[in-house]
Parts: sequence; structure tokens; C-alpha cells
Amino acid sequence: MNTDNFRIAVVGRKGGVGKTSSAIHLAALLAYSGKRTLLIDGDDRGYATTWAGAGSMPFTVDGVGGLMAVSQYDAAVIDSQADPSESEISTLGRHSTVLVLPAIPEAQAVSGLMQTIGVLDSAGVPRSKAAVLLTMDTRQGSATAEAREALEGAGLHVLKSSIRDTVAFRHASSGGTLVHKVGSGPGKMAWLDYENALNELLTLGERA
Ligand SMILES: Nc1ncnc2c1ncn2[C@@H]1O[C@H](COP(=O)(O)OP(=O)(O)O)[C@@H](O)[C@H]1O
Ligand SMILES: [Mg+2]
Repeated sequence: MNTDNFRIAVVGRKGGVGKTSSAIHLAALLAYSGKRTLLIDGDDRGYATTWAGAGSMPFTVDGVGGLMAVSQYDAAVIDSQADPSESEISTLGRHSTVLVLPAIPEAQAVSGLMQTIGVLDSAGVPRSKAAVLLTMDTRQGSATAEAREALEGAGLHVLKSSIRDTVAFRHASSGGTLVHKVGSGPGKMAWLDYENALNELLTLGERA
């Protein structure tokens, strides 16, 4: 499997959809799989940097200045700010192996994501590189199935693994740790959700 220099960009125009949580956990999983991993914090507010700041993360964190050093790592994950400019989205699209578009399973998710996809399309980034990751999935009712159907109907690839909704994420970020380490069963299950999502992304990256 050739996934050397695997680069994941986590992008989206909406805030609060789980971009930073996804970037942190995907970077940690890549690092635990034996890849020297760099997390680029592309958000001026520095949430990923603060989260990882306690220094117990298995990966290195840097600001956008660190983009120059990406080739020195086996893997990189880029967390981006809400509402990135069109040029930022298209640059990320061109320089990453796969793009992850986190979305909460709700009706508004589709229109928000279509804007991002429109930017990628006009930048010539192949849609085969992009995948929607459903986050904060309560696994109750039909919201997730409906969101998945709407997104797929709009021509987007939606990862089979969604990330369950659990307060463990808030505990993990306030404690500067990872979701499987906060001691709750749901946190451990959410870690496995990210592991499954990463495996799908690695497969996507081989094909893209
Ligand atoms: N799967 C999840 N379940 C429950 N809460 C989550 C989940 N993922 C993230 N959160 C919480 O939602 C809020 C926003 O998440 P964050 O990753 O910072 O989003 P973004 O980077 O898109 O703004 C944070 O309080 C975070 O702890
Ligand atoms: Mg964020």
C-alpha cells in the first residue's frame, strides 16, 4: 500500500461541524499506525494547537508556516478555519491526497457543502478526492440516512463510517487528550469510528 506522504485536508465553510476534532483524531490514528505525522493548524484561532498543546499527542503540530516541511513527514493533516477563501480551498484541494468535508447530519448540511464542492470543481480538483464525513451522529431517527441520501444525490461521496455524537469530545479537548482516553465507553467507540473513517480515506487516497 503506497500511502507515503499521505495528506488529508479537513475543509468546510461552516464552523462547529467537527473539523478540528476530526483533524486531531485522524492525525493521532496516522501517528499510531507508525507514520511520522504533522498536523497543520490552519485556523488563526489556534484551537488545534491549544488542544494538542499539552504535548502528549503522538504527532507534531505547527502553523501554516509548517506547510513547507510537509514532505519531511510520512503523513500530514491540515485543519482549516471556517469560511476559508476560495483560493485557500483550491490550494488545499490541489496539494492534498484526500479532502475530508465534515458535516452534521441535518438538512442544511447539503447546501453548505455544495458551496465548497463548487469551489473545488472550479479549481479543477477531482471530486474523487473529496469525501463527506458525517459527525455528531446521534444514531437516532432518520436524520443521518436522510442527510446521506441527499448528499449522495448531490453527487458527493459520503464515508460509510460516521462519527457518533458523544460528550467525550468536549472532555477530550478540554483535557488536551484523545477521545478514547477520557474513560467513557462512548469515547472508545468514537475512536473506532475515526479509525474506520481513516481506513476509508486511505483506500480513497490510493485510488485518487
Ligand atoms: N462527534 C462529536 N460528538 C459530539 N460533540 C462533538 C463531536 N465532534 C466535535 N464535537 C464538539 O463540537 C464542537 C465543535 O467541534 P470542532 O471540532 O471544534 O468543530 P470545527 O473545527 O468545525 O469548528 C466542540 O465543542 C467539540 O468538542
Ligand atoms: Mg476548528
